[in-house]
Order: sequence, then C-alpha cells, then structure tokens
Amino acid sequence: MKVLVIGSGGREHSLCWAIAKSPKCDELFCAPGNAGIDQVAISVPIPVDDLDGILDFVAANAIDFVVVGPEGPLVAGLVDRLDAVGVKAFGPSARAAEYEGSKGLTKDLCAKYLIPTAEYARFDEPDAAKEYIRVKGAPIVIKADGLAAGKGVILCRNENEAYAAIDHIMTEAAFGDAGAEVVIEEMMVGEEASFFALVDGKTALPLVAAQDHKAVFDSDKGPNTGGMGAYSPAAIITEEMSARIMDEIINPTIRGAAADGRPYKGVLYAGLMFTKKGPQLIEYNVRFGDPECQPMMMRLKSDALEMLLACAEGRLDKIKLEWHENAALTVVMATEGYPGAYGKGSEIKGLEAAGKLKDVVVFHAGTTEKDGSILANGGRVLNVTALGKTVKAAQKRAYQAVDLIDWPQGFCRTDIGWRAV
Ligand code: AMP
Ligand code: GLY
Repeated sequence: MKVLVIGSGGREHSLCWAIAKSPKCDELFCAPGNAGIDQVAISVPIPVDDLDGILDFVAANAIDFVVVGPEGPLVAGLVDRLDAVGVKAFGPSARAAEYEGSKGLTKDLCAKYLIPTAEYARFDEPDAAKEYIRVKGAPIVIKADGLAAGKGVILCRNENEAYAAIDHIMTEAAFGDAGAEVVIEEMMVGEEASFFALVDGKTALPLVAAQDHKAVFDSDKGPNTGGMGAYSPAAIITEEMSARIMDEIINPTIRGAAADGRPYKGVLYAGLMFTKKGPQLIEYNVRFGDPECQPMMMRLKSDALEMLLACAEGRLDKIKLEWHENAALTVVMATEGYPGAYGKGSEIKGLEAAGKLKDVVVFHAGTTEKDGSILANGGRVLNVTALGKTVKAAQKRAYQAVDLIDWPQGFCRTDIGWRAV
C-alpha cells in the first residue's frame, strides 16, 4: 500500500522508520519530511498546514493511508477532509482534536464524566479571572485555552505572578487568540508520566508509557521546551496502574467524548500527574508525543503499519501488540539558543558513526541536506535513541552515540533518564 506521513519532526522520522519495515508498505512518502526521513521515505515539500496541497498530492498519487503526526492539521480538519474523499487516515476528526485545541473543553469533559483532574475554572474576562485568583490564592496554574506550542502554561508561586500571567495571556495576548480564554487550575504535586492509548471508536488499547523531560537544562532547570529527551517504560506505570488509568481516565473519556458528539479515533496521549489521590489528568494531546514516540517506536516489535491501520479501520479488538522487554531512551540534540532564538545552517558530522552503534538510531528533526552535508535547520535537531536491557543501559548507549556526533553548535541535556537511573 501507499502511505503518506504528515510532519517533519523526530516523531515523524520514527513513525516512518517503523512503517517502512512493514511488508505491507510498498511506497512511503512524508510531507514535508527532513534529511533523516529521506533515508526511509520520499519527502515531498508540502507544509503540514497546506491541507489543499496534501489532498491534491493524495489524489494525484493514489495514496491509500495517511498518518498525521502533529496536532495542527488534525485540529484544522485534515482527517475529516480525507474521510470525505474516502481516504483512510490515522488521527481524530477536528471535533475530537479539540480536546487538545481547547484545554477548557477537556476540563469540562472531566467534570461531566468524573475523570480525576485538578480543580479548575474557565474565564474569558481578565477581571473575573483575577477575582478567582484572589479567592483561591497561590500556588495556582494559569493556562491559555488554545494551542500555544507548549508555552501556554504558567505555574505561579504567588498571586502577583498569577495576575501577571493573566495580563500576559489575556491583555497582552502573548499567544494571540489562543489566550482569549484561560483555564485556572489548582496546582497538583507529584511525578509526571505520559500514557498513550490507541482508540478506534469502540476499543481502546493501551500502549507502553513514557516519560519526557521538558526543561531545557540538566536538573530540570531553565524554560520548558517541546521535550529534551524521553524514555520508555516509565517505572511508575506498572501493569496494575495501567489498568487503573484505563478504568478511571481513558475509558470514561472515550465514552464521554462519544456521548458528547466527538467520537475519538487515533492515539490519545494523556499527560498524567501521580498525586497522593492517585493518577490525575493534566491534559490530553490528540497525537503521539515528540520525543516520546521515538523510544516507543524503538520498543515496538509488532508491525507499526498494521497497528495504525487497525486503529483507523476499527479492528483494535483483533490485534495484540508486542513490545521489546528492553528499555529505550532518546536524547534530543538542539541548536544553541533553543528554546529561544537560534541560528540555522551549521554542519553536523559523525551521524554515520553514531548510527552504526548497535541498537542505536538517530532520528532527525530539524535537519536538511545540502551538497551531501547534513545541516541544522531548527531548534530540536536530532533524537539519539538507543535500546538497552534497562533505562540505565539505554542511557549509556545513547550518550555513547551522542559523543560520536560532531556538532559544535549543538547541545543536549546530560541527565536524560535520571529519575529512572
Ligand atoms: P500542559 O501543557 O498542560 O501539559 O502543561 C505543561 C506542564 O505544566 C505539565 O507537564 C506540568 O508539568 C505542568 N502543569 C500543568 N498543569 C498543572 C497543574 N494543574 N498542576 C501542576 N503542574 C501542572
Ligand atoms: N513531549 C511533549 C509533547 O509532545 O507534547
């Protein structure tokens, strides 16, 4: 079959890498792809937000199946448009993708269907928001309701920080329309982990769990990023805990979403906090995590294309997934300056040597190729991923590979996986 993956990050490279191994995959395309994706798929220069361009390509090339990586095109309705022309796709409809597109919508779902989460209120008016802060006190969490590239959440230690956060998000419109409404939440305390389930409308199938590292520097210092590394499994999510999460959080969500006219299909990514009261939902994403997807794809033994197709075709009750017992760990290498301003075009060497290490794959994110050289072309650039018997072994192997990469303008955290090691 002919498959098209949408996206250009490390997540999409790992999806392409896994899909390309499937005997069912005859031709694999990726829009827009990157220099690493070129090794396993044909990159086509269509931006992820060019829905017309994607639909034209799908028709012109008789694509059988589209796998959507990032949230943007999902929220914009790519899967609905593919549905309308009879092309199978992996990912939720625009209505279901709104659970990531609006944090308030998800909180309302939690309240209605008794899904454990932090206490909250929604506001579209700054004075009322500040009055609520005055009543509740600090610490408190202020969130832009809409998509803000992972930056729309402000953890406030005192009331003044909270008032400033309201000004920043609502009055100064730091995130544009995404901050026209805010969600104000009680601050939860505990360890975090990401939980993933495939959902086909009827059946929900838990995947392995993962943990990511959001802060840019070692010891979780510095501003938050899209993720500087990740590993799987996450020790806190035992089999027993996974069953509890399915029971208390995922299954009620799927039933509730369907009852509210937003039936869910695709991968549901639950950001969870393990508090004294048990697992609580922080937020939903409607796609795989980046970088969490990279160690997950390394651990997947089953046919990835068959897994994604079974989800899109409503056959999840008929498949059983197999995973490597081994752990996997990803170290993100980013351009100096990220998550702030950074330069583009620096040359990266040593990728071949790193990729030749046993059980190592270097997934690319922001890279491009010019005259045979690989150049950095983004903030997060490489995802050095390794398998190992334990998280510690995978960590050691991944950093051995990092050491072989010669890129003076790049940096990485040196402590990915610390919690598990
Ligand atoms: P989100 O974009 O909603 O995942 O939030 C980003 C990060 O902010 C999360 O990974 C948590 O570390 C933190 N966070 C969000 N909501 C809360 C909350 N209610 N209590 C404590 N931390 C939170
Ligand atoms: N790693 C966090 C995310 O994908 O949202």
